[in-house]
Amino acid sequence: MSIIKVEHLSKKFGAVTAIRDVSIEVEEGTIFGFLGPNGAGKSTTINILCTLLSPTSGKATIAGYDCMKDSSMVRKSIGIVFQDPTLDKELTAYENMMLHAYLYNVKRSEIKDRIHNALRFVDLYERRDDVVKKFSGGMKRRLEVARGLIHRPRILFLDEPTLGLDPQSRANLWDFITDLPRKHNVTVFMTTHYMDEAEVCDRISIIDSGSIIATGTPDELKKTIGGDVIYIKTSDNEKAKVEIEKLFDVDVSEKNGELFLTTLKGDSCIPQIIKTIGDKALSVRLQRPTLNDVFIKMTGKQIRDEEISSTDTFKEDMRAYRRRFDRG
Ligand SMILES: Nc1ncnc2c1ncn2[C@@H]1O[C@H](COP(=O)(O)OP(=O)(O)OP(=O)(O)O)[C@@H](O)[C@H]1O
Ligand SMILES: [Mg+2]
Repeated sequence: MSIIKVEHLSKKFGAVTAIRDVSIEVEEGTIFGFLGPNGAGKSTTINILCTLLSPTSGKATIAGYDCMKDSSMVRKSIGIVFQDPTLDKELTAYENMMLHAYLYNVKRSEIKDRIHNALRFVDLYERRDDVVKKFSGGMKRRLEVARGLIHRPRILFLDEPTLGLDPQSRANLWDFITDLPRKHNVTVFMTTHYMDEAEVCDRISIIDSGSIIATGTPDELKKTIGGDVIYIKTSDNEKAKVEIEKLFDVDVSEKNGELFLTTLKGDSCIPQIIKTIGDKALSVRLQRPTLNDVFIKMTGKQIRDEEISSTDTFKEDMRAYRRRFDRG
């Protein structure tokens, strides 16, 4: 069942078209990632879904409620972590949570337990009586996630939740975000411009200049690139080329003295290649397409050059995370 349904949504700010004909469906209990560069229209879309902005045209429903007509029911169904932090730094973590619980009419008798549980979930229980100005960026973001859950929403919107955090805090926050569907039965809709975060989402849409340019699972999108590329260094390229072409019935090309071919099942082809060309094999490497490749193919540009290079450490953390995830 689609818990979020967006149909042909557009929003103009005067002469600026922030989003154009955006359609999205998100299934309950999944993590949806909205990936795009600066100014692509991610926050505009989230703000419409959270009933803070009206669209120029189109329709959106959240948990079956119309974002324009049933805004109070939509608001009861969702939690939000805004792109810009909104905590009161002079208050303690507990007091920030309490304010939010009052705003959302949480039953007085339940408030304390709910706050304690939410703070335990994000590992901030021990720091509940500290003022927020003493918190690190990662702790503040985790507190905002906990706060967004206090009224038990079915959906949590997170607008760039990890922006500006160091790699370790990002990976740490990601642990909590990826636990949300399983531990809290919460559907997650998040925006990001980090490829690595998008990789861990169940489904993503890539948005550029207000339009969605691709939607699918990360694997589906990467397959549009045409598969893995295998590079082979050999002692006799001419002979090896003929043998590999015969083996897979594909074209093998040569660049910088290396043979290469594109295939959908890179890792299972490598043993066959080595067996076939035998001693001629000097080295073999596999290059998997990335979401960055998908973005470049679709738009002809990188998402954000400077931040792609700064994600290297984070990539390591994410790889470790994925290994853990794969093991269940
Ligand atoms: N209130 C507003 N008034 C006028 N223009 C706006 C307003 N809000 C957004 N825009 C414009 O709409 C476009 C999309 O902005 P939006 O904030 O949705 O992008 P974004 O994808 O969230 O970007 P970022 O990654 O920087 O947060 C931009 O061109 C922006 O300048
Ligand atoms: Mg934004």
